[in-house]
Amino acid sequence: MTQRIVIKGGKVVNADHAFDADVYIEDGVIRQVGKDLITPGGATIIDAHGKLVMPGGIDTHTHMQLPFMGTTAVDDFYQGTKAALAGGTTMIMDFVIPGKGESLLAAYEKWRGWADPKVCCDYSFHVAVTWWSSTVAEEMEVLTKEKGINSFKMFMAYKDVFMVNDTELYHAFKRCKELNALAQVHAENGDLIAESCKKMLDLGITGPEGHSQARPEDMEAEATNRAICIAKQVDVPLYIVKVMSKSSADIISAARKKGNVVFGEPIAASLGTDGTHYHDKCWRHAAGHVLSPPLRPDTTTPSYLMDMLANDELQLTGTDNCTFSSNQKALGKDNFTMIPNGVNGVEDRMSVVWEKGVHSGKMDPCRFVAVTSTNAAKIFNIYPRKGVIQVGSDADIVVWDPNATRTISKDTHHQAVDFNIFEGMECHGVPVAVICQGRVVLEDGVLHVTQGAGRFIPNPTNSAACYSKIARRDEIKKPVKVEREPYDGPVFVPSTEDESAKAVAVSPITHQDEFSRPPTRHGGGRDLHASSFSLSGRQVDDHVSPRASQKISNPPGGKSSIIFGD
Ligand code: URP
Ligand code: ZN
Repeated sequence: MTQRIVIKGGKVVNADHAFDADVYIEDGVIRQVGKDLITPGGATIIDAHGKLVMPGGIDTHTHMQLPFMGTTAVDDFYQGTKAALAGGTTMIMDFVIPGKGESLLAAYEKWRGWADPKVCCDYSFHVAVTWWSSTVAEEMEVLTKEKGINSFKMFMAYKDVFMVNDTELYHAFKRCKELNALAQVHAENGDLIAESCKKMLDLGITGPEGHSQARPEDMEAEATNRAICIAKQVDVPLYIVKVMSKSSADIISAARKKGNVVFGEPIAASLGTDGTHYHDKCWRHAAGHVLSPPLRPDTTTPSYLMDMLANDELQLTGTDNCTFSSNQKALGKDNFTMIPNGVNGVEDRMSVVWEKGVHSGKMDPCRFVAVTSTNAAKIFNIYPRKGVIQVGSDADIVVWDPNATRTISKDTHHQAVDFNIFEGMECHGVPVAVICQGRVVLEDGVLHVTQGAGRFIPNPTNSAACYSKIARRDEIKKPVKVEREPYDGPVFVPSTEDESAKAVAVSPITHQDEFSRPPTRHGGGRDLHASSFSLSGRQVDDHVSPRASQKISNPPGGKSSIIFGD
């Protein structure tokens, strides 16, 4: 049945422009935007006088029903997306997180199986790379070409669970670049965190305050810097998820000023609250704020991050919504390292960003739209289908009353979790109507959501926001090879007795090593030629001396002087 809606008399706010206009919607798509539109028969009218008409929010970072730390996040794809809609968010981006050794494709199908029957709004996925092999590289290609994935997240934290090392990070980044996908990182130094957690426990600090003290800001900043440095080696666009600290944000901003293609995503939690809660006398309260990276003890952090978001030093907002109720958090009642990590945000992000960003005078409504939807749509390559109010775009719209207020509370929120990190915060800016896929899902405070009505939205690779600069730079900066006559002069031959020459002998670097080769050309499993045995370059037993040191001079085919062995 044709569904028609006219939103009358509001101010349409896009990222680049705000203007008075009506919006006409038919069958899920925006058909007209203009002044005094004629209302077709049978159309539902939404009165938006005095209100703002904005693209529905896109939450770039959620973990609905994530199995994690011995339990499962309590907001599932139904309850979580219902709460999203209640807050004016009409699309979420969640994460498929395979375990180490698990097939990425199998995990993707598992997550689709969880999400598709439950989602009330549109959604897409990022996929985590938690281990590295040629199979992972092959599956990343299938995911990008056939499954609508254009972003891969690597964890630099959660040692022995999800964390990858720098070599794995490098290979994953390189593969993202080959596939024109976006590399994402959770930036924290997992090795150091593991050590400082032990230190806290040795000191007898077992409560939630140990969580934040074991993960100081430096550990986020160091990893952020390292990820940017590694990404630069392969010129891959990089997206830092959940920026929690001033120093990490500064590093992102400095890298952007130097021309790196790097994006920073603060979350509702880091913009709306701080780490003083870890020292609360109430264990439930303190544990309710445990997430990683943690909230920072520096109480100026939220305001600082908001300034950076307002000025495009940070680009967009997510939530890392991953909720555990108090009894689940209590798994770590005697040991903070066992408190399931994660907080709420999906329902309250729009209000928190409005309150701390627009109501405070740091950003205008256009910038609000940019950081809550448009930039996400551009970076993840679904613009202008999402993230803008214009003819042809999906009718995902929030009608926003900038003057109304609401007070956030666990008692009134729509999330399944029994705690809210923004408890008691009074927010100006309230969604008075929400339209999702051309259906009115919230009006006059009443939700009308449909389980399973949301669609999986494929994210195509090669987004212009990520790759247009990089593609041009690749053309310009191609490494140069100078064609010249071979050197035919004398070559120094070190003697085997020369201790200093032996001490510095290194294996030659050849054009390939065993990890960097692309998957097989025929697409299937590797054959013998594609095994980890390599006929050239570094060998698995390079560190073992195959024979006594020997000197080779003038071998067939020309002069050479390489020391083999130790
Ligand atoms: O603390 C958090 N955020 N838990 C969920 C997993 C993650 O780190 O993304
Ligand atoms: Zn997360």
